[in-house]
Amino acid sequence: MIDLDIITDKELLEKDAKYCSFGDTVHYAKEPKVFHNCEGSYMYDSKDVPYLDLQMYFSAANFGYKNKRIIDAVIDQMNTLPQITPKYVHKYKVLLSEKLCKACEARFHEEGRVNFNVGGAQAVEDAIKLVRKATKRNSFFAFQGGYHGKTVATTALSSNFKYRENYGHYGDRAYFIPFPYCFRCPYDKKCDSCDFYCVKHFEKQFDSEYKGLIDPSTNETEFKAFIGEPVLGTGGYINAPQGYFKELKKVLDKYGIMFVDDEIQMGFYRTGKLWSIENYDVVPDVITFAKSLTNGMNPLSGFWAKEKYINPEQFPPGSAHSTFCSNPIGVRAGYEVMSMIEEENFDETIPEKGKYFLEGLQMLKAKHKSIGDVGGLGLALRAELVEEDGISPNKTLCAKVLAEGLKGDLVYNGKKCGLILHNGGFYKNIITFVPNLYITREEINMAIDLLDELLTRCE
Ligand SMILES: Cc1ncc(COP(=O)(O)O)c(C=O)c1O
Repeated sequence: MIDLDIITDKELLEKDAKYCSFGDTVHYAKEPKVFHNCEGSYMYDSKDVPYLDLQMYFSAANFGYKNKRIIDAVIDQMNTLPQITPKYVHKYKVLLSEKLCKACEARFHEEGRVNFNVGGAQAVEDAIKLVRKATKRNSFFAFQGGYHGKTVATTALSSNFKYRENYGHYGDRAYFIPFPYCFRCPYDKKCDSCDFYCVKHFEKQFDSEYKGLIDPSTNETEFKAFIGEPVLGTGGYINAPQGYFKELKKVLDKYGIMFVDDEIQMGFYRTGKLWSIENYDVVPDVITFAKSLTNGMNPLSGFWAKEKYINPEQFPPGSAHSTFCSNPIGVRAGYEVMSMIEEENFDETIPEKGKYFLEGLQMLKAKHKSIGDVGGLGLALRAELVEEDGISPNKTLCAKVLAEGLKGDLVYNGKKCGLILHNGGFYKNIITFVPNLYITREEINMAIDLLDELLTRCE
């Protein structure tokens, strides 16, 4: 028998290679990394080397690893009501729903309700059902570069063809429109002079039935909903320019198209607001959320919808449900997260920290020609790595920087450490920065210094 306390990384990797499916993302890497511990902004390997984490569980642990307040709440829940069949009422499910609805009402002046489930993709699937019931149409618009999950229904809304290539999809594949990715404008325009050409181009598709979207004699459209992330997550932390969503929403409203705002990655203050769409002053019809709702302590997810779409007549009992849909541990963690949000001043601290981090990235851009563009919103930041010409995506360099960071042989203040980064974007050449929202200035300085060292090493 192996002593589980002293099982080596090598033994674990051998067992992983033999017993674990390669169907998840672990084996994207030739040599998968093993971690044993985490705390605050750091992950620790078997030698206790700290790795500053700038991807934070793909934005599922916004409030820091082992956040004591959330852990204590979860432990308390474990000791009181850890299990309950979802057909019964329990305290924190109701109180968390109230908090989420009141938060949405305060921001959007709209009454609504929330529906829980587990996993982001499942929340999107439930939202699809609500939309289909409300609109009596199946088809969605979605963004090129958007990601909404990998279940067989959500792959129809996530733009990447690879996700459908071998597995197909249920339901109607979305009509994908270009995201306003200004550094690489899909229409070769310049952001300061384009006057939202992309939105105008989208609207032009509604001027004749031969373009496949509308019957002008009845004004009936085949597509009745648009799902989008205000800041592309998997798509590379690309934020739409100010004003974009207001323009887009005018078109959606004109043709009676619902807007589903996917906040699964950008929600819970990642961009300096509870919901990233608040940065654009637009009111969505539906909001999907997951990940940091529980600070990554439980897969609880859900969606909020305006009352007119989710009232009990419209979305009756049994419409969307699973055994673990409002599991008591998840809703308790979520209640604690929402309480922290109410008590703290994230509206000020995140934009301040984001500005400081971005200034560091701008400094690096001035120093390293391999950085073509930096940007982002709040603490959802990015750096695009490019070739000598300043524009061609440099995916190879990006992969190298990520792998070097994971070696754990960087040095900061005389101590060995590593740097955990993630890549994203259409060309996988963007480093996406997703730090702990409690990251300190000292840790931001560390992040910039370590990045500087990594880029110098890899260029
Ligand atoms: C915007 C967005 N929507 C949906 C999902 C799917 O969530 P999950 O991985 O929990 O199924 C993700 C996951 O990264 C996401 O970023």
